[in-house]
Amino acid sequence: MPEEARPQRETRILPAVIAAGIALAIAAGAVAYAAGHYGERTKTVTVQGAGPATTGPPATKVSPAVAAGAHTFVQFACAQCHGPQGSGGVDPAVPALTTAGKSLTVAQLEHIIDHGLGESANPKVPYMPVWGAVVSKTQVANLVAYIRAGLPVVADTEPVTVPTGQGAVVAGAALYIRYGCINCHGPNGLGGVPNPLSADKSIPPLSGGDFRGEFNTDAKIAAVIRSGSVIGRAPIVSMPHWAGILSDRQIAQLIAYLKTLK
Ligand code: HEC
Ligand code: HEC
Repeated sequence: MPEEARPQRETRILPAVIAAGIALAIAAGAVAYAAGHYGERTKTVTVQGAGPATTGPPATKVSPAVAAGAHTFVQFACAQCHGPQGSGGVDPAVPALTTAGKSLTVAQLEHIIDHGLGESANPKVPYMPVWGAVVSKTQVANLVAYIRAGLPVVADTEPVTVPTGQGAVVAGAALYIRYGCINCHGPNGLGGVPNPLSADKSIPPLSGGDFRGEFNTDAKIAAVIRSGSVIGRAPIVSMPHWAGILSDRQIAQLIAYLKTLK
């Protein structure tokens, strides 16, 4: 190869490199501009990342009662059985709620939420839990307002994300909140939530010596999570049936978490 050919090649390459550099700078500038300009939007999308609402329609502006109902709907895991925005599709035994706001009166909706529906006759099938002793009148009224408003998408109501790749205990702790166990069994499984008409007068803890003594194997804990337990009919709160709602893997994760408690 002749020596003088090299500088010639370099002079051809150099402008190309400079041009590419300029193009890159322009592109980076455009991205930075867009990020600054559309920052709000980018942020919202990132925050909603893991929630099911990401694919749904954009959040609607609603009354405070409807907004509170939307949050309560997620807090008490209504969304985990009836689907996001009550859209159904979780288990054949659990209806969508999209038409309930029109087909049922306020009094009927309040009665169903307070007293449950379907009882717990079949231990393999989920039923509508009794909420009367756990959910306040105001919360029920807000839930009814939300259902009658057509269960719109409300901002920041995504249920807690279940971390993956961090082990069963971490996943189980998130599931304990996501599926509303915490509302009935208390933070850290401490119990103490009133269930006035039951023999114990309160919903049992999922921690402590008595619990560990009675539920001394994973199989026993899994069985009660799947098929609930019938301690009576409304207004007594019973353990819901989670078969069909929680997978075997999720139940194992919940058990792993419960075993870390006091
Ligand atoms: C463990 C699963 C589960 C949870 C949690 C749950 N439901 Fe239900 N719900 C059901 C099932 C199953 C039915 C159907 C009962 C039947 O018809 O026998 C039902 C029925 C209903 C109905 C009547 C619908 C109709 O068209 O007849 C309403 C309203 C309702 N649920 C609201 C709620 C609200 C509000 C919450 C949260 C506070 C909630 N549900 C939580 C399982 C669940
Ligand atoms: C609507 C309230 C309610 C919710 C929500 C609820 N439970 Fe329960 N759970 C109960 C009641 C009431 C009992 C006691 C039943 C009995 O004594 O027959 C119970 C019993 C249990 C028991 C057996 C403990 C014992 O001493 O009987 C376990 C384990 C349990 N629940 C786990 C869970 C998990 C895990 C979740 C969430 C996926 C959950 N529960 C959600 C009400 C609830």
